[in-house]
Amino acid sequence: MSTRRFLIAGNWKMNHGVADATALVERLLQQDLPSAVDVVVCPPFVSLPATAMLLTGSRIGLGAQNVHSETQGAFTGEVAAPMLAELGVEWVIIGHSERRAMFGESDATAAARARRAQEEGLTVIFCLGETLAEREAEQTLDVIRRQASVLAGLDPARLVVAYEPVWAIGTGITATPEQAQEAHRFLRTELAGLFDDNAAGALRILYGGSLKPANAAETLSQPDVDGGLIGGASLDVEPFSAIIRAAAVLAAGESS
Ligand code: 13P
Repeated sequence: MSTRRFLIAGNWKMNHGVADATALVERLLQQDLPSAVDVVVCPPFVSLPATAMLLTGSRIGLGAQNVHSETQGAFTGEVAAPMLAELGVEWVIIGHSERRAMFGESDATAAARARRAQEEGLTVIFCLGETLAEREAEQTLDVIRRQASVLAGLDPARLVVAYEPVWAIGTGITATPEQAQEAHRFLRTELAGLFDDNAAGALRILYGGSLKPANAAETLSQPDVDGGLIGGASLDVEPFSAIIRAAAVLAAGESS
């Protein structure tokens, strides 16, 4: 039996300014969320201060969606890790495919951001995954290996990896449980090579890509799937808490 606790993280992307973010967090805090599952929400930067105040002392963690690799300076439009830490932010998503595809993020820049984030005490949710063209060309595992290779040197204790096949993000098409398990299993083997067996066995690998209440249990029941990075279904309290409850049911089954 795995000792990894499920982690359900909501990536709100460019949704929910202060008013909406505050309302959603207040509703989440009213839910009787199961203690067996770790929960994190990642609002846009501008909504972090207000949500941080609400979440202080709660068991819902707070994450940002990006962070720069330098701690200060002339980097217009960027946000530094110490600024996030000062707010009480403990998690940060790095290397999301939307940043790679639309904002010039590369394996190297994502790695630099991840290193800095960890140096400032943040836990990194590092995203990777293949495009449809790469899957169709049967390059999925090669792409995952390349993208994961830059994690060498990071602290595995403050790292979560999110496998997000690009073709499944926001499309309504979910990877089959078998496709997710194959990628996660492969990733864990790669991580064992980068770190060691113990670290790789303890490291959580999340699945992301059109995860919904209807398909969450099946995907999360795979042995190497340790949670989800949820986009669209994290924007409302009902679907997000339904996915958290699905994870809790599986956790209870594993521990019995
Ligand atoms: P969707 O759940 O909307 O497909 O988004 C997944 C994602 O990109 C999470 O980071």
